[in-house]
Amino acid sequence: MAEARSYRIAVIPGDGTGPEVIREAVKALKAAETRDRLRLDLHPYDLGGERYLKTGEILPESVLAELARMDAILLGAIGHPEVPPGLLEKGLLLELRFRLDQYINLRPVVLYPGVATPLKDKGPEEIDFVVVRENTEGLYTGGGGFLRKGTAYEVAIQESINTRSGVERCVRYAFEFCRRRNRRKKLTLCGKTNVLTYAFDLWERVFRLVAAEYPDITTDYGHVDAVSMWMIKNPEWFDVIVTDNMFGDIISDIGAIIQGGLGIAAGGNINPEGVSMFEPIGGSAPKYTGQNVINPLAAIGAAAMMLDHLGEPAAAARIEKAVRKVVAEDIRSLASGKMGRSTTEVGDLVADAVASG
Ligand code: IPM
Ligand code: MN
Repeated sequence: MAEARSYRIAVIPGDGTGPEVIREAVKALKAAETRDRLRLDLHPYDLGGERYLKTGEILPESVLAELARMDAILLGAIGHPEVPPGLLEKGLLLELRFRLDQYINLRPVVLYPGVATPLKDKGPEEIDFVVVRENTEGLYTGGGGFLRKGTAYEVAIQESINTRSGVERCVRYAFEFCRRRNRRKKLTLCGKTNVLTYAFDLWERVFRLVAAEYPDITTDYGHVDAVSMWMIKNPEWFDVIVTDNMFGDIISDIGAIIQGGLGIAAGGNINPEGVSMFEPIGGSAPKYTGQNVINPLAAIGAAAMMLDHLGEPAAAARIEKAVRKVVAEDIRSLASGKMGRSTTEVGDLVADAVASG
């Protein structure tokens, strides 16, 4: 018999409700491990607000070096009410994305049958697209600074860094992804060429150049404000959207709410040549910590994306199918936008469906 395919996976539950949802994602992974004859070596890491408050450490170099040798990372949530805003987000989450060069943030927007969307007259047929967000540049690089801080003449500068190579690798990934996804084969560039005439001039030129190599892909362009509107009005127009870091952050939250909310929206921070990290796209929800009420489906979806990325599409599809079954048959209340079940119950339902699926 063939030896089990084995993977080393770092698990960072993180802050707030992160540990609760990751626990359920791990249940689904364990079920898939048995069912699909994999071997998943899970290595837990206690990075996050608690560790910082206890030790002052955010992301030690030695830990980063260990993470860089994993096959993938599964992350819960980052953000702690007792830690000043930005410290963990920048020092841990963005640091991981940047240092591991996870230059794509892949955010599928899929409405599963049985899940409520706030959009009137739109269903699973209409809501099925993917946002490809550039993940290592733009306004997120921290370029800029203060001048005369705290005075009446203060200047605050926040720069958007866009490199030719950074934009090109992201745009290329989006074209390849769109081709592989093989649905409507339409790629929309989301920008702001009418105002941000340097950054998006570069994006548009690169987009056109790369498009010439993909005659099978239809291309389209929308300004970010209009794209935001169309995602609500006509989500069926979209197949794959490629955009910069900041716009991608904003439009992927619009995507999350139309697919049923942050409780169900998963994403991947991808380095196609290195170590990728998968996470529910919502935050640490401190208000709900420890209450066993948070929807774990986003974390479970992130675990499925991780398996797919590791080259285990059958196991990934089994988890996705289990999620689809559970939302359609077992947690009917999701059709009215409520969960009506505990975090643990939902996790158990999915793990059982994976085991028998
Ligand atoms: C996200 C989050 C992060 C981001 C924050 C927590 C830094 O909103 O993953 O979308 O802005 O990228
Ligand atoms: Mn965000």
